[in-house]
Amino acid sequence: MSEPVVVTDDGGVRIIRMNRPEKKNALTQPMYAAMTAALQEAGTNAALRCVVLAGAPGAFCAGSDIADFLKAAEGGLEPITIDFLYALARNQKPLVAAVGGLAVGIGTTMLLHCDHVVAATDAVFSTPFTRLGLIPEAASSLLAPMRMGHARAFAMLVMGRPLNAEEAKTAGIVNTVVDAAAVDDVALTAAREIAALPPGAVALGRQLLRGPVDAIVRQVDTEASHFKERLRSDEARAAFTAFLARKT
Ligand code: COA
Repeated sequence: MSEPVVVTDDGGVRIIRMNRPEKKNALTQPMYAAMTAALQEAGTNAALRCVVLAGAPGAFCAGSDIADFLKAAEGGLEPITIDFLYALARNQKPLVAAVGGLAVGIGTTMLLHCDHVVAATDAVFSTPFTRLGLIPEAASSLLAPMRMGHARAFAMLVMGRPLNAEEAKTAGIVNTVVDAAAVDDVALTAAREIAALPPGAVALGRQLLRGPVDAIVRQVDTEASHFKERLRSDEARAAFTAFLARKT
């Protein structure tokens, strides 16, 4: 059986590929753990100069696995996802994303931690937190308004209105929109371009642009404490149960 997260190093570029296409790359706890480890290790490996987050054709990531949400709501699962959010916030290396198809929930909010995003023309960015009885996570409540202004952040994060690739580009989430077949190659070319630059200057420039990491981590923590409560709410449990039962 193939691994649900595949990590490949290609010269100075690490590619972290979500690989659970049969579930549209919904992220399970082991997938979060593998992605966390791959990001953290990239930070300490001087040979690696850039990291690419990639998915499957038509599905970058359908968000957290809702069955895991339900287990966490019932207290049967430790919410270890927070380690991934810390790894994103504290990540040392430039982060590029190759987004084809669906980018739901964390599939969109992780992009706010990326430095360069390539999207396919079929990409759809959506954060249906409210409909699931949840609230924005991954410091998106801080980063999205900074990126696109309050009005657009509210429409996306609270109203749950999706963005297509061109709208995401206008909102400042995406750099380039390309054909679906080219998305990985274009992202890899950008990653190699970054990897070829003087790494000390890249690291410092990136750090200055991102601002204080502590503020991002604080927002992750604040959101997480609310998120944990919301997971256990009647609204959220009903939404998870309805999703999981929708085909039966
Ligand atoms: N958690 C668990 N399973 C998920 C999932 C998720 N977040 N997203 C997709 N899947 C599963 C589906 O249940 C389905 O499983 P099955 O084949 O065993 O029934 C499989 O992945 C394929 O998804 P399907 O819904 O048939 O594909 P689609 O193209 O019609 O719709 C989505 C794709 C992503 C729009 C839809 O699956 C969806 O809304 N998923 C939930 C997204 C979400 O709310 N994520 C959390 C955000 S906080």
